[in-house]
Amino acid sequence: MCGIVGYVGPRECTDVLMSALSKLEYRGYDSAGIAVFDNGEIKVAKSKGRLKDLEEKMENTYKPSGHAGIGHTRWATHGEPSDINSHPHSGKRVTIVHNGIIENYKKLKDFLVSQGREFQSETDTEVVAQLLDYYYDGNPLDTIIKVMSEVRGSFALGIVFSDFRDVVYAVRRESPLIVGVGENESFIASDVPAILKYTKDYYLLEHDEIARLDMDGVKFYDKHKKEIIKEIKTADWDMDAAEKGGYEHFMLKEIYEQPTAIKTTISPRITDGLPNLEECGITPEKLREFNQIYVVACGTAMHAGLVGKYVIEKLARVPVTVDIASEFRYREPLVSDRDLVIVISQSGETADSLAAMRLAKELGAQTLAIVNAKGSSIAREADMLIYTHAGPEIAVASTKAYMVQIAVMYLLAFELALAVDAIDETECRRLTGLLQKTPDYIEEILKNKEDTQYIASSLITADSLLYIGRGLDYALSMEGSLKLKEISYIHSESYAAGELKHGTISLISDGMPVIAVATQKALFEKTVSNIKEVKARGAKVIMVCRDDYTPEKDVADYKFGLPDIDDIIMPMAAVVPLQLIAYYTSVLKGNDVDKPRNLAKSVTVE
Ligand code: F6R
Repeated sequence: MCGIVGYVGPRECTDVLMSALSKLEYRGYDSAGIAVFDNGEIKVAKSKGRLKDLEEKMENTYKPSGHAGIGHTRWATHGEPSDINSHPHSGKRVTIVHNGIIENYKKLKDFLVSQGREFQSETDTEVVAQLLDYYYDGNPLDTIIKVMSEVRGSFALGIVFSDFRDVVYAVRRESPLIVGVGENESFIASDVPAILKYTKDYYLLEHDEIARLDMDGVKFYDKHKKEIIKEIKTADWDMDAAEKGGYEHFMLKEIYEQPTAIKTTISPRITDGLPNLEECGITPEKLREFNQIYVVACGTAMHAGLVGKYVIEKLARVPVTVDIASEFRYREPLVSDRDLVIVISQSGETADSLAAMRLAKELGAQTLAIVNAKGSSIAREADMLIYTHAGPEIAVASTKAYMVQIAVMYLLAFELALAVDAIDETECRRLTGLLQKTPDYIEEILKNKEDTQYIASSLITADSLLYIGRGLDYALSMEGSLKLKEISYIHSESYAAGELKHGTISLISDGMPVIAVATQKALFEKTVSNIKEVKARGAKVIMVCRDDYTPEKDVADYKFGLPDIDDIIMPMAAVVPLQLIAYYTSVLKGNDVDKPRNLAKSVTVE
């Protein structure tokens, strides 16, 4: 998704903006640009493509130089990726960068055209730039407030006015924006990693708040122009967390960080060998209030919800419905005030998940957010909150955030099962102990990357493949398949193994790879029968199963062996080879692993 940065201070602004933008590259983008006060005049440089294309363009034409400015990486929504549609966009005296979507841009554009204004680009952003310019009467704050009252939708804006030299304004509604402060300098950014190189101290801009950055510091105003005092926050991430630290890609680093992320997430929530979520507002009494549970999320986070569903239903016997957030919000869900709605999100800003949570609240349900990004919108608006402590996840493809989302779902399932007397304390202690051991098992699996490299090398020529499994293995198959397709660009589907013969098996042709996840003892023989069905029709089968099983020739061509862990906790271990297979397939295909095409890290549009 788009990234915004801004700087005011003694350093060379263009360098700061470019460096800060590079730290937001993970969000996904297709063009980039900056606007800098250069000898008192706003100079804009922008280009379709990557930051290096912008850098090259500036080297070949003109590189603005100064001490205050704004920058942007764009992920196209209105209008194709092109030099013209790239941000910044300008009116005569105003230049802006924008993240979000202006819902009433068409109406505003028609109005501005009727007033004789001409437009260069197809973007909704230019409409805001022109509207600011239209109302601008020499008072930036009044103008911004006027425009905020007319614009509908989500936005974070960085704004510079040509007659206010070295001053940067910022405003947000829905889309996230932070204001960083260092010694004699200040920053704006869509996310903390952008400024970590310079400072760890920042303010979180709230809805409809405005910041004014100049050489003397930062001031904040509400939408009534009243100055407000805000609480400063300090990022608990350091630079290392936002750097590759010797790994070739962030994704690989994040896969290897999983054991630590699990420990950091679960340890503070376990007391005397039992789950304890009291600090998050969740007590056994509270858990007994709910008739049923909904889990609402998108993509990988939704897949974490699916694992949670199996585990909660199996252990606590409480019904769980997992919904894709974009479906939930429009299907008139039958949610009541006796229900718990769990929203899972790494970024805490996913537009559909946030809207779904707001709907659930309107319907009277209690909401619990499982979120990684501190202070994000979903985290702030939920009734109850469990932070996952994965640290910053930079690669677009989620790995460690998924892992800790699952870990939290396990803790919740154990505590709920105990609260409703579906298991006793001894069993709850046993299960919690199993969860605490998972980091060691994962460390073990991570030592065997060679097998996943070998498997990946056998996939790179495939046009299409299938992931199959039953029960928890089916939930994992969905995640394995999503991971592979998003970074390797190879088409893949996940299927419930028993469902194949009702249609999909006709896709199997000679040599088609099928990744069969078969880790659940109770379902093992049934899954093996399904695997034999595809093998008999020519599939090349790669089996992910316990190491003590040796498949016959009529079952699988290759096996990835897993340690002998209890069925219930197995998904946390079994997902690791699936992540590594996707990773190495993408590497072998020469793809941009951390920034796959067409994708954005944080999806703040519907
Ligand atoms: C896939 C992936 C996405 C996200 C989804 C939700 O690897 O990362 O499917 O899981 O966009 O994002 P969050 O968790 O930020 O709400």
